[in-house]
Amino acid sequence: MRGQDVFLDGIKMTYPNGFTAVHETDLTINAGEFFSILGPSGCGKTTILRMISGFLDPTAGAISIGGVRMNGIGPNNRPTALIFQNLALFPLMPVWENVAFGLEARGVPKAKRRKRAEELLELVALYGQADKMPTELSGGQRQRVAVARALAVEPAVLLLDEPLSALDLKLRQHMRAELKEIQRKTSVTFIYITHDQGEALAMSDRVAVMNEGRIEQVASADDIYNRPQTAFTATFVGEQNVFTGKVTSAVGNEVAVETGQGTLYGVNRNDLAVGDEALVMVRPERIGLLNGEAGDPEKMAKLNTLSARLQRRDLEGALINLYLTAGENDIHVNMHNTGDDAPFSDEIKLAFRHRDTVIMRPGSIARDRA
Ligand SMILES: Nc1ncnc2c1ncn2[C@@H]1O[C@H](COP(=O)(O)OP(=O)(O)OP(=O)(O)O)[C@@H](O)[C@H]1O
Ligand SMILES: [Mg+2]
Repeated sequence: MRGQDVFLDGIKMTYPNGFTAVHETDLTINAGEFFSILGPSGCGKTTILRMISGFLDPTAGAISIGGVRMNGIGPNNRPTALIFQNLALFPLMPVWENVAFGLEARGVPKAKRRKRAEELLELVALYGQADKMPTELSGGQRQRVAVARALAVEPAVLLLDEPLSALDLKLRQHMRAELKEIQRKTSVTFIYITHDQGEALAMSDRVAVMNEGRIEQVASADDIYNRPQTAFTATFVGEQNVFTGKVTSAVGNEVAVETGQGTLYGVNRNDLAVGDEALVMVRPERIGLLNGEAGDPEKMAKLNTLSARLQRRDLEGALINLYLTAGENDIHVNMHNTGDDAPFSDEIKLAFRHRDTVIMRPGSIARDRA
């Protein structure tokens, strides 16, 4: 098996009722890449996948796979296989026949189908389960049968629509590693749809964050989390403390924003200029407590500081969550439990590094977080 690249050139989908589920989108997915599309319910993820697989014709634009234009080519004649959001195995067929189902339609003789099914079952770590019925398998095993079945037709591109959503958390986490391993072994291009950020960040070479029919950012998991480019990406993936203000200086790499909590500094990745409205964001785990001791002045110069009042302290085990307020702002701090359980004072001085402070133009803030 070998992966192929997928090229979306200005594709758009307006449903017959007039609703545009996907606005004009350009996207290149590389051959052999594990690529995820992450976004809230209803943002258009399944619509994009159905256009790539050929079950839905785009209203505008073109799709190419492996350099071949797919317009007018039906799903059965595309080098793709789709694993649906609500997968169903055939309940009355043993596992191996489920896997080999697509091969029968292609006229492959029975002995060869059986052999191929066994190879694929080995690939998905289900060796020796060929003669079981689907009801005799666990949820995770059934999911792996679905993956084997999709791979049986040797697709160059495997499209997976929230394939783990029916599984419980522990199994989902286990299956992440399994899917990643299957992808590595086959080097098939995986396009993986999910609204679970942990899944997308853990498995993918690159992630596209989608909101209301538009792709907001395409980047590596690290860039999506640490260097988000839009307010939506910043707030949909992980959690942020958000301050609003106006840019008062933008010199070189650094930008300063006057907020209700004083001037906060960050790296100017989004080309902000003096006078611009801005959002200043910092993640709960990037905020520390300042103990009042005089720190290294060099280091101190690179810290944003603010005073906050402690409202609640929740012990979560390895982590402690502090919920504070500073003026109008609610602030969440998430820190390691170091075993020092001395009570916190009511007034706490917080600090976070300039480099951990993300500053950008105002934009839609994610409500329905992943
Ligand atoms: N056949 C259709 N006709 C009209 N609107 C549709 C149709 N199918 C989907 N939509 C709308 O298009 C939008 C995108 O739907 P889509 O199924 O692509 O979302 P999704 O991102 O996959 O969501 P989920 O995570 O809930 O599966 C939604 O607002 C949905 O209501
Ligand atoms: Mg969907």
